[in-house]
Amino acid sequence: TEIDIAAEDLDLGGYPHYMAKEIQEQPESVERIIRGRLDDRFGVARLDGLNLTPRELRGFSRVKILGCGSAYYAGQVGATMIEELARIPADAEAASEFRYRNPIIEADTLYIAVSQSGETIDTAFAVEEIKRKGGRVVGLVNVVGSTIARACDGGVYLHAGPEIAVASTKALTNMAIGFALIALALGRVRDLSNADGQRIIDALRAMPGQIKSILDEGPRIAEHAKEFATANSLFFVGRVRGYPVAREGAQKFKEISYRHAEAYQTSELKHGPLALIDAALPTVAIVPADELTDRNLAAVQQIKARGGAVLAVTHEDVDFGELDVPRIVVPKTEPELDPILLTIPLQLLAYHAALSLGYDIDKPRNLAKSVTVE
Ligand code: AGP
Repeated sequence: TEIDIAAEDLDLGGYPHYMAKEIQEQPESVERIIRGRLDDRFGVARLDGLNLTPRELRGFSRVKILGCGSAYYAGQVGATMIEELARIPADAEAASEFRYRNPIIEADTLYIAVSQSGETIDTAFAVEEIKRKGGRVVGLVNVVGSTIARACDGGVYLHAGPEIAVASTKALTNMAIGFALIALALGRVRDLSNADGQRIIDALRAMPGQIKSILDEGPRIAEHAKEFATANSLFFVGRVRGYPVAREGAQKFKEISYRHAEAYQTSELKHGPLALIDAALPTVAIVPADELTDRNLAAVQQIKARGGAVLAVTHEDVDFGELDVPRIVVPKTEPELDPILLTIPLQLLAYHAALSLGYDIDKPRNLAKSVTVE
């Protein structure tokens, strides 16, 4: 597949790697996806490209999100947002599995295909399968005019700008924000109030500045990364909103630092994986200030009691009490949007780990930027 990238987009702009550049570009790329789409009068997102009337939006009783790899994890973030804000059952599935299992396509389900490149063959075939069976599918895609964007019935472009590094960063952040916009559109034709819609809009507007403050923490995160890079294996744990964050954190770490990194739901630790914890297996724990903080802290305590090192990605308000745990603190946003900001330090963690190990950050072994062949 030919990807149309202008010469100026290939300019590293003084950064050592495209991944570093793309991580740092996030305050501007987030500005681009929300620009012109936030309607303060009605607390809603304006998404004309979806090609869906309010009545059609109102008619869906389920949402199914399809993507591969990190786009699938962004889809999990999106499913939780849609359930929370629009109160419609929503889930995400790996498009690579969906296309092979003769899926049941329902007329009252809104299908959303999510892809940076718009060329991932598994996701493109999932879209074809949905269309063949008469389903309605919209795209959340970065590359304008790409195969998936063209195949869908409508969609929302991510406007992240060209992404060159194999490990996706700024496109994933915009996917999560794109889902927040779709959740607003679905929520405001149902029971989401104008005030609650406005609460999300205000939080989205504050996000570029908040991301900038996380990026300023880069040098501190680099210190933690050096320590973690020496472990042969590590866990990333989170629950509910935090679980897809943990999955994405582990994915980024695996992709570029070639370390075994495994994500678990924090709630599942005691059902098996806790047996693996010892001094040689550190854990990155997602511990947001929310209704589950106490449970997450209890799990951190259990890991520490077994000799496991923990690095917490957390909020200022979380009180760790006696627990001696190094922390990366991210700014608080609205709870539904927390996963977006909690993911940013994990990009930096993976980047600096790979940097300290001396690997080829932008072109990790065995991987392609987009998987366009079977
Ligand atoms: C992300 O860091 C990965 N390189 C990979 O999982 C990627 O997200 C996946 O292959 C999907 O790509 P797409 O968004 O272009 O469809």
